[in-house]
Amino acid sequence: MLTRIALVAAALLVAAGAAHGGAGGIDDEAKPAAARDANPYTGDAAAIAAGKDLWRDTGCYSCHGGLAEGGVGPDLTDDTWVYKPTDKMLFKTISKGRAGTNMVGWSADLEPDEIWQVIAYIRSLYLGNPKKIIW
Ligand code: HEC
Repeated sequence: MLTRIALVAAALLVAAGAAHGGAGGIDDEAKPAAARDANPYTGDAAAIAAGKDLWRDTGCYSCHGGLAEGGVGPDLTDDTWVYKPTDKMLFKTISKGRAGTNMVGWSADLEPDEIWQVIAYIRSLYLGNPKKIIW
């Protein structure tokens, strides 16, 4: 029952977000970190540095490589993605993981704000075509 209530609440949040124009809406800054559609830290040097530490301390590097160049887990610096690389998709993947793969969810280890910092670090390592940046 609680799960059902949470799901309904989540659906309402998404609907509210859509009503405000969806991804990157101007209300994003006012939302709690987990409910944001776009990363508030993209390009922010301090957040990137914090994300780099979290990348190391949490162990992301062990599968994705120190510079996210790939290993057991996919390269996160190029234009090959499993899903469209929106901020929202990265947040969900890092928070909840991917069922059936060894990408587990990290929501017990990382606060929503920290997940955004890790994403800022990942974005700072991007080596793909600048025209394909959708974040
Ligand atoms: C045990 C190995 C492992 C660890 C540790 C790990 N990942 Fe992953 N990760 C994977 C695998 C495997 C996939 C591909 C999942 C799939 O095929 O959908 C993945 C997918 C991803 C994706 C989505 C890539 C895409 O193309 O859609 C992101 C983003 C990501 N990981 C970030 C992280 C971050 C951040 C951490 C640390 C908090 C982390 N991963 C830790 C194995 C790992």
